[in-house]
Amino acid sequence: MRLSAPLSVAVLALTAITAAAQTAPKPSASNAHPAKTHAASQIIAATPPMGWNSWNFFAERVADKDIRAAADQLVSTGMKDAGYNYINIDDTWEAERDASGVLHTNNKFPDMKALADYVHSKGLKIGIYSGPGSKTCGGYAATLDHEAQDANMYAAWGIDYLKYDLCSFIPDVMQKQAPNDEAAQMRLMVAAYVKMGNALKASGRPIVYSLCQYGWDSPWEWAPALGGNLWRTTGDVEANWGSIVDIINQNAGLAKYAGPGHWNDPDMLEVGNGKLTLAENRAHFSMWAILAAPLLAGNDLPNMKPEIKAILTNKDVIAIDQDKLGKQGIRAYVDGEVEVWTRPLSGGALAIAVLNVGSDRVATHPFHLSLAKLGLKGPEAGKDLWTGKDVTLNDNQSIELPSHDILLVKIAAPK
Ligand code: GLA
Repeated sequence: MRLSAPLSVAVLALTAITAAAQTAPKPSASNAHPAKTHAASQIIAATPPMGWNSWNFFAERVADKDIRAAADQLVSTGMKDAGYNYINIDDTWEAERDASGVLHTNNKFPDMKALADYVHSKGLKIGIYSGPGSKTCGGYAATLDHEAQDANMYAAWGIDYLKYDLCSFIPDVMQKQAPNDEAAQMRLMVAAYVKMGNALKASGRPIVYSLCQYGWDSPWEWAPALGGNLWRTTGDVEANWGSIVDIINQNAGLAKYAGPGHWNDPDMLEVGNGKLTLAENRAHFSMWAILAAPLLAGNDLPNMKPEIKAILTNKDVIAIDQDKLGKQGIRAYVDGEVEVWTRPLSGGALAIAVLNVGSDRVATHPFHLSLAKLGLKGPEAGKDLWTGKDVTLNDNQSIELPSHDILLVKIAAPK
C-alpha cells in the first residue's frame, strides 16, 4: 500500500519522456575534478536554504533563459537581499549519456557551465536535479550507476545544490531486486542516497544535498547521517489550501529531527501560484517559517505582483525561518478549526502562530487564545509580523481571524 501512490506517479512519469530529452547531446559536460576549496568546518545549510526553484511555475518548460531571468529578478526585486540565494533548476535539463557515460544537457540548456557562471556572477548559487534511478520523474536521463561521474560533473560546472529524486529507482532497482519485500526495498533506497551523498562529498565541492523521496521510511531518522541537508517529508505540494494544510499536518511531530545543517522539507513554496488568496499565501509562508522549512519560491518572478513580493520579502517572517537556533516549531494545541503553533527562537524569544485552518469559522466571533496552554502567563508584549504593529497578548486573548488566515506574533521576552 505504501508504495502505491508515488509509484503510480513514477510509472506515469516514465512514460513522459519528451522530445526535449531526446535531442542531440551538446558537448558542454566536463568531468574535471574541482579544486578542494571547502573548509571542513563550514556547515552546509546552517539555516534552511532559501532561493527559487523552476518546477512549481515552469515544470518541464524551463530553459536557460528562464534561469537567467530568475537570477536577474532575485536581485532586482530585493529577494536576494532578503536572503534568497539559490537558483535551482529542477527536472528536464537532461539529454542522454555519451559512450563515456557523460550526461549531456538538452537543447534547452546549451551550456550549463556558462549558466552557472552567470548565476554566480549575480552573487547567487545554483542548484540542479537528478535521481538515483535510470530516469527522472519527468522521464529524463538520471544518475543510476554514474554517481561519482555526475557528482564530479556538477562540481566542475560549479553546482551548489542537488535535489535527488527517487522516481524510477523504484521499478529499476527496488522492485526488481527485492520484489515483495518492502523492508529490503527501503534498504536499497537508503543505500542509493548514501552512495550519492558519498559521491558529493568526494567531489570536493560543498553541495547542498536535498533528498526527494516523499518521506518514505522516515528519512528524518537516517538522512542526516548520510549527509542529507534536507529531505522531503511528503508528496508534492500543490497550489491549493487543502494541499498546504495536509502538508502542515504531516510535519507536526517532526520538530526534533531538524537543526542546523539538516532540515525537514515540506516542499517548495507555492506563494503566488494558483488561486491561493492573499490570506492563504500569508498563512502558507508563515507556517513554512514556523516549520524551519527551506524557503524555495516557485512563482513567476518576472510577473510577480507587489503583494506577493511583500509576502516573500517580509523580513520579520524570514527571520523566524532563518533563526540561528534552528529549532523547528511545534503544534502546541488544536481548538476546533484553529491550530496554535509555537517556535522557540534564539535569545529566548518565541514565535506564536494562530492558524485558522477551516472554512467554517469566519471572523464573526473571536477565537480565544490560551497562553496557559503555551506555558505563558501574560501579558506578553510582542510584534504582529504581518501588520508590523506592537501587540500585547493576554491569557484568553480574543483574536478575530478570517478563515484560512494566520496571526503571527514574535514575543521577544516571554514571561
Ligand atoms: C517529483 C518531485 C517534484 C519535481 C518533479 C519533477 O514529482 O517531487 O518536486 O521535482 O518530480 O519531475
